[in-house]
Amino acid sequence: MSQETLLVCILCRSSQTEARQAGLSEGQFLFNQLQDGLETSSEACIRLQPVRCMGACDRACVVAFTAPNKLTFILSQLSPSNSVSDLLEFSRQYITASDGKAPYKDRPATVKQNIHAVLPPLPNQP
Ligand code: FES
Repeated sequence: MSQETLLVCILCRSSQTEARQAGLSEGQFLFNQLQDGLETSSEACIRLQPVRCMGACDRACVVAFTAPNKLTFILSQLSPSNSVSDLLEFSRQYITASDGKAPYKDRPATVKQNIHAVLPPLPNQP
């Protein structure tokens, strides 16, 4: 299984109506959409992990791409329905890039526009 992980806050709520019509929080709706997209992919998949709040609640929806020895990308203000294909595309780029730093010009529009923070890899353990 991939060490690369996509953390998705499943408690995020915003004003999107599509998720509400399904009786879900926007974060859970986004998580479900990503899970469906990954299940139908034939490529190496990122590990999807639900999280209960990442402390950026006023900037819903919030996700983070993270892995050992790679940059961590935190994205916010994501549409639960319109960001899915771009997040899946960036998942593939993130897995492929040795340090997680996919070339900026190749990143999907959602990733370019919705970066909340980029964190360096943790220092190597002794
Ligand atoms: S509820 Fe999603 S970041 Fe807090």
